[in-house]
Amino acid sequence: MPQPMSRPILSVDGLSKVYEGGFTALDAVSLEIREGEILALLGPNGAGKTTLIGSVCGLIQPSGGRVLVDGHDTLTDYRAARRLIGLVPQEINLEPFEKVISTVRFSRGLFGKRRNEALIERILRQLSLWDKRDSPIRALSGGMKRRVLIAKALAHEPRILFLDEPSAGVDVELRRDMWEVVRNLKRDGVTIILTTHYLEEAEAMADRIGVINKGQILLVEDKDALMKRLGKKELVIELREPVPAVPEALRHYGLRPTGNGHRLVYTYDTHGERTGITRLLADIQAAGLHLCDVETRESTLEEIFVDLVAEERAAP
Ligand SMILES: Nc1ncnc2c1ncn2[C@@H]1O[C@H](COP(=O)(O)OP(=O)(O)OP(=O)(O)O)[C@@H](O)[C@H]1O
Ligand SMILES: [Mg+2]
Repeated sequence: MPQPMSRPILSVDGLSKVYEGGFTALDAVSLEIREGEILALLGPNGAGKTTLIGSVCGLIQPSGGRVLVDGHDTLTDYRAARRLIGLVPQEINLEPFEKVISTVRFSRGLFGKRRNEALIERILRQLSLWDKRDSPIRALSGGMKRRVLIAKALAHEPRILFLDEPSAGVDVELRRDMWEVVRNLKRDGVTIILTTHYLEEAEAMADRIGVINKGQILLVEDKDALMKRLGKKELVIELREPVPAVPEALRHYGLRPTGNGHRLVYTYDTHGERTGITRLLADIQAAGLHLCDVETRESTLEEIFVDLVAEERAAP
């Protein structure tokens, strides 16, 4: 849970980035991250997530605005600010012939920190890489490489960790391990900002969720509140014979026919007391319809954007 009393450790104020050629990738983004929280930044391809992270970490020169990392300005006090940050980049950029353990050690050295073998061991164990410590990077799977990136980012004991799409190219099982790793880091007191395309991932890990689209932050909200507002699911009911219209007895469910009447789509709130599914299925049978399959589907990010934009328009 977020700690409402914790102080902001990172504040981004009016940050903009206009790339050469004139494209505005960040449009006056302001954001405050509290110490010890996990913030998930959710947004489609090209939304500006990597640009935002790069601008905060000093990889990208912002066109305007200000970033303070625990009070240190990233432009005027870069080294002090950067030391507090660990970055797990979206692109895997490792030396293929280097050994796992030396790669991680080297990262610590880059920040001028003294050798600390016990710490390196703890990090490698935490990421299930200890057994692979003497393997060359090229002998690792994609998911392992991503964990090496995390180990590298942690080697200088940062207080804020940025994870740019930590589970890209990672299979479902490893993805859950990754979530566990992130939760453990939080337990150690690390503040975490991660980006993702997946609502499910944001939901699994975050205390707060920020939604970014076209270089603008659409909202930042407590996860629970946001999920309650937007976490809809759909039940797609496949019928053996198509129906020309939704039968009168089923009208109150608000079913949406699709596929020339072969399917009925029922939308429900995953956070409601009752989903109404049991009764709906019974009523469908009672109405004389035969179903051959049912399938559930979560709202996609695109649908959430549509909902968000519609809500903003509806607001006075
Ligand atoms: N070096 C660059 N020069 C010009 N435009 C760029 C550059 N880097 C990124 N962009 C543009 O800025 C926009 C935001 O890119 P960014 O990589 O920040 O998006 P993202 O949200 O991280 O997307 P993804 O989910 O695909 O990683 C995109 O339209 C991209 O084409
Ligand atoms: Mg990106």
